[in-house]
Amino acid sequence: MEDLIMKAYKPETFRSEAHQLVELLATELEKAHSAPQKKDTINWESPAEQLAYWQNDFNSPLINNPQQLFRSVMSRSVNLHSRGYIGHQTATTLPVTALTSALISFFNNGMAVYEMGMAGNAMEKVVTGYMATKFGFDEEASGIVTSGGTLGNLTALLAARAAMPNVLGKPEYGQLAIMVSEEAHYSIERAVRIMGLPAENIIKVPVNDRFQMRADTLEHYYKEATAKDQKVFCIVGCACSTSIGAYDDLEAIGQFAQKHNIWFHVDGAHGAPVIFSPVYSHLLQGIEKADSVMVDFHKMMMAPSLSTAVLFKSARQAGKTFLQKAEYLWQDQQADEWYNSGKQTFECTKPMTILHTYTIMRLYGDTLYQQHIDKLYGMAGEFAYMVHQHENFELACEPQSNIVCFRLKAGAESNELNRDVLQRLIEDGRFYIVGTTIKQEFYLRITLMNPLTQKDDLEQLLSVIEDLAMSDAVMG
Ligand SMILES: Cc1ncc(COP(=O)(O)O)c(C=O)c1O
Repeated sequence: MEDLIMKAYKPETFRSEAHQLVELLATELEKAHSAPQKKDTINWESPAEQLAYWQNDFNSPLINNPQQLFRSVMSRSVNLHSRGYIGHQTATTLPVTALTSALISFFNNGMAVYEMGMAGNAMEKVVTGYMATKFGFDEEASGIVTSGGTLGNLTALLAARAAMPNVLGKPEYGQLAIMVSEEAHYSIERAVRIMGLPAENIIKVPVNDRFQMRADTLEHYYKEATAKDQKVFCIVGCACSTSIGAYDDLEAIGQFAQKHNIWFHVDGAHGAPVIFSPVYSHLLQGIEKADSVMVDFHKMMMAPSLSTAVLFKSARQAGKTFLQKAEYLWQDQQADEWYNSGKQTFECTKPMTILHTYTIMRLYGDTLYQQHIDKLYGMAGEFAYMVHQHENFELACEPQSNIVCFRLKAGAESNELNRDVLQRLIEDGRFYIVGTTIKQEFYLRITLMNPLTQKDDLEQLLSVIEDLAMSDAVMG
């Protein structure tokens, strides 16, 4: 019988397969510099068609070379490097991160203990320390990387709970409450539920007409909670919110949190990287008052998913979050050992995703991020202007970030028409955009994530949408 182990680990095979893949990706990147053609951004197939394809593929004879398989995956996935990719808040990854991904996977250092992540743990400390300084924290600060913002938010809320006198297992535990914008990402509510707190202890603060948390109502909701014997231990500010990209007034929230001695967490998953831009960093005014800030590297910082920084104003406070014994990993749980990162994070084995951001920072410094933010946030403003100029379209509200919600005007038919058009746009495949519901109304939503996208593409998007809306199939 053929020795498959030796075959699979053969360096020549790996070298050749890797070269072929790099060639394939580089060709894709070449195409990404041109205007998108039909099916370039998404080659849509129904779930049933996808399943049938992969079921059939899986049942076929073994393959010798994975290239055809890789091509099949590529043609059946959204192409985030296409100029027509303006959909979700996922990064159009910097090409060099395809290489860092290979290195991370090949070395597979698990990071929980120092030896299994010597470079990774140190790079994580350097980068999170740098980010913390950017947000105005001092040398007391610390940070860790988590696999995603959902886990990042949970981690920050667990830290907020650990910073309080311990009421775990006591009747008072059920009184703990958190204040958050009604526009906050669902991961906040999920985290609170995971912590075993009832839904009514999530105090959803209403937003103003720009979809920002109404800071003028904070005292009112706090008093109301206190009167109900709820103990507010944390308030979360959005920078920015997911659906519409609104930045809360972090200065006002920070002052409120300080006054009542409440943990202040900033969910900056998408929008905190504006810190790199002198033009847009004012949107974060007050962030230095936060006790914790979460920022996704895999959104506006061009890294592959999932890689998130959770930054804490006080390393001492953060260190209390996951206090627990695991003798086979760490001798002394109490000791402050940044290099055994498993002590500070929910995860045990964790990929060295910090290598992506560390590499980007070493290659390009802050300037790349600054240019990226300025370009994408600036283009959102230009797109909003185009929408304003167009008699058939309307905006949900002026964009504050690179997220813009808009729709075709069609009076009472608006929801149905825009839903239909969205599906037809996806089937056309030149553009990938998404939809969202704002105040019970359906809107089209773009997030400018791809720095290769041009103003012309956005003009083209509006005209394709109009054409689709006018075609017989939609108008009946
Ligand atoms: C504001 C905000 N917070 C948290 C998250 C969750 O982040 P992740 O998808 O990295 O888990 C998102 C995702 O879109 C988000 O927009």
